[in-house]
Amino acid sequence: MEATSPTLLRPLGLLAELTHRCPLGCPYCSNPVALESRADELDTATWARVFAEAAGLGVLQVHLSGGEPAARRDLVELTAAARQAGLYTNLITSAVGLSAERLAGLAQAGLDHVQISIQDSEAASADRIAGYEGAFVRKRALAAAVVQQGLPLTVNAVVHRANIDRIGEMVDQAVALGASRVEIAHVQYYGWAIPNRAMLMPAPEQVERAREQVEELRGRHHGIIVIDAVVPDYYARYPKPCVGGWGRRSLNVTPSGKVLPCHAAESIPGLEFWSVREHSVADIWCHSPAFNAFRGTDWMQEPCASCPRRFEDFGGCRCQAFALLRDARATDPVCHLSPHHGLLAELAGARRDAAYVYRRHTPAPAHATAQGDRD
Ligand code: SF4
Ligand code: FES
Repeated sequence: MEATSPTLLRPLGLLAELTHRCPLGCPYCSNPVALESRADELDTATWARVFAEAAGLGVLQVHLSGGEPAARRDLVELTAAARQAGLYTNLITSAVGLSAERLAGLAQAGLDHVQISIQDSEAASADRIAGYEGAFVRKRALAAAVVQQGLPLTVNAVVHRANIDRIGEMVDQAVALGASRVEIAHVQYYGWAIPNRAMLMPAPEQVERAREQVEELRGRHHGIIVIDAVVPDYYARYPKPCVGGWGRRSLNVTPSGKVLPCHAAESIPGLEFWSVREHSVADIWCHSPAFNAFRGTDWMQEPCASCPRRFEDFGGCRCQAFALLRDARATDPVCHLSPHHGLLAELAGARRDAAYVYRRHTPAPAHATAQGDRD
């Protein structure tokens, strides 16, 4: 497909949410609160078609994600299909439910890269955050197996109030595990993180200390590990160019086959999403109403509409604008030029020490700490 207008580019990345099933219950999970069920998941052949169509459209890289992708029994076949389509394959895993033997099968199928999330540098805290006893030990074991297979490893450390003071220890842990990259990923407030916002939100002084510490760690570990980190949304002055701009560079396929411009797009009411069950990936990319809803800049209101940064950050995040202002066309309030920017300081100040609402398929009491869903 040729780019047909300045606002219709080829996508480069595909996030394949193979399943929403996951043994963990992380309270900041970016999956929607209404999780899709196993019965609705796409079969192997349909995913293989999606990978081939995506590659034909220009996609270079697929992120095999979830939920926990290892919950799919056909993960090896899916990985092989993605490689056969010519895609660079990145497995995003919690590491729970994936054995070293199965990992070897994935490597043989052509897996290119593995990303493992960690919850903390201390076992008890990590397991409490994940809502799964023993997760910490399993993650370390799988990370060792990844390195043993010769696969490049990225550690994704999701940080929030309970662990942000241990960034240094988490980076040390990533180095010890043999990772080549560590992402210090501040919680983003979508999906399950919204009901947990007051429990996850770091204090301003913690964020400032973390910023200084990252600089120090980059100096100390230069040439050993790459450290990625950005300022968390609620403490930033400008918004992030979310997903590289709506419908510009990436797409997201849900377990049941709906194609979304970003993982949280379904939180915006009134958007019409097309499915790979009825349409080709190219048709969806070019013509689906959801993808065209916020492409380009014509939809913008002031202050974005006349702002010179609108081609860099695309007005920030549509889902965040809707979540906080009930207006998906509004300037992301992370931007200090938004008339609603003060709302973020107000929400960041509303911190509360209470039990997490763990992610699970069926509604569970907020105080529960048992393991996540297992269907
Ligand atoms: Fe970005 Fe809009 Fe803020 Fe300008 S006004 S910096 S385009 S979010
Ligand atoms: Fe949907 Fe940012 S998460 S546009």
